Amino acid sequence: MIQYPKNIVIRNIGTLYGLSQEPYSFKRGKALAVVQSASNQYLYIKDGKIAKFGNDDSCPIQDAKVIDAEGGIVMPTYIDTHTHIVFAASRDEEFVMRIEGASYEEIAKNGGGILNSAKKLRDTDQADLYASAKARLDQMVQMGTGAVEIKSGYGLSTESEIKMLEVIKELNLNTDVDIKATFLGAHAIPTPYKADRQQYISKIINEMLPHIAKHSLADYCDVFCDKGFYTVEETAQILTAAAEYGLKPKIHANELDVSGGVQVGIQHSALSVDHLECTTPEEWKALSESSTIPTLLPGTSFFLKIAYGEARQMIDYGLGLVLASDFNPGSTPAGSMHFIQSLGCIYMQMLPSETFNATTYNAAAAIEVEDTLGRIDIGMQANVQILKSVTNINQIPYYYGSNPTDVTILRGKIQ
Ligand code: NIG
Ligand code: FE
Repeated sequence: MIQYPKNIVIRNIGTLYGLSQEPYSFKRGKALAVVQSASNQYLYIKDGKIAKFGNDDSCPIQDAKVIDAEGGIVMPTYIDTHTHIVFAASRDEEFVMRIEGASYEEIAKNGGGILNSAKKLRDTDQADLYASAKARLDQMVQMGTGAVEIKSGYGLSTESEIKMLEVIKELNLNTDVDIKATFLGAHAIPTPYKADRQQYISKIINEMLPHIAKHSLADYCDVFCDKGFYTVEETAQILTAAAEYGLKPKIHANELDVSGGVQVGIQHSALSVDHLECTTPEEWKALSESSTIPTLLPGTSFFLKIAYGEARQMIDYGLGLVLASDFNPGSTPAGSMHFIQSLGCIYMQMLPSETFNATTYNAAAAIEVEDTLGRIDIGMQANVQILKSVTNINQIPYYYGSNPTDVTILRGKIQ
């Protein structure tokens, strides 16, 4: 394997995007479209951090490995704040069932969906789970992603939920990706508990949460608060218990219906409420008066052919947004944040500059990495991507379906 020197200088950068020298401030409303950039730049990476940048004609750096950006762009790596990339197997059979006319909810009701993934995961050992998740993560890194949130939720038993969280921990230890883990034991009600939901919820509260907290296996707690899954009251019960262990909420809300998930998330100071394919102006108002971050997942709308979140209206209302992939085997089997930007622009009328900030700068706050990631400034962790064939950020969503990332650098290391 080639050993690269620690220090790198990227030369011949046509435009360096995502500059930010001011203190961090989550971008809302009109500010979401503001992206600072500078042309004809060099970028110097020293000891894993951004050490210097400036006009390439007067680059003072000599003792470093040189990478030629060939006049393309350099920008921060993506921060994907909502994924389920630990899973045992594909659910392509359900994809075909949906083409033949079944709905996502019908499939779930008949024991498919999340329960199908849970069955497959129970019979898969930790090493195999790790290998497949690692392969997915590697592919995401090659498409410009540098930080991810990963959820459990295909275990649905104490043993299997812990197995998933252990895999996430291993990924965090063995890669240069910054990873946050979210406990999603309340993703579905396992079949044996259908008649006594409270018994499963008690298991989450009295068995899973204490173990997870004791072994520091999660940063956040999620609940799928939606029609046919968890009610608002059940969500509140689980979030209250999680808070006692210091786990902040990140909620699945309003994917299938206006579920009350936004309100219960805000009441429990959720870091973010995610999905939001269905929302009302009352919810926009409540979000604008809170610090909870609205996160839209347009990959799900695309793959399930359901409504897209009302991003344009929400931004015009004055909200700030985050976009994430939701990479999972049921509703979004894809992790390209370039494509997520295309969907944001084409189906939700977001500007490319808005999708840029929603996947970098703003996304940082949704997993609490805004002090080190998501923008270009001296002292920030050196997580950057080089897109040689692209000359401005409009071209990222424009060339949909491609991977314009040529080089991904994480913690100052070429991946
Ligand atoms: O975010 N909506 C809930 N959870 C996942 C999908 C789960 C699945 O179908 O496996 C999502 O879309
Ligand atoms: Fe999800």
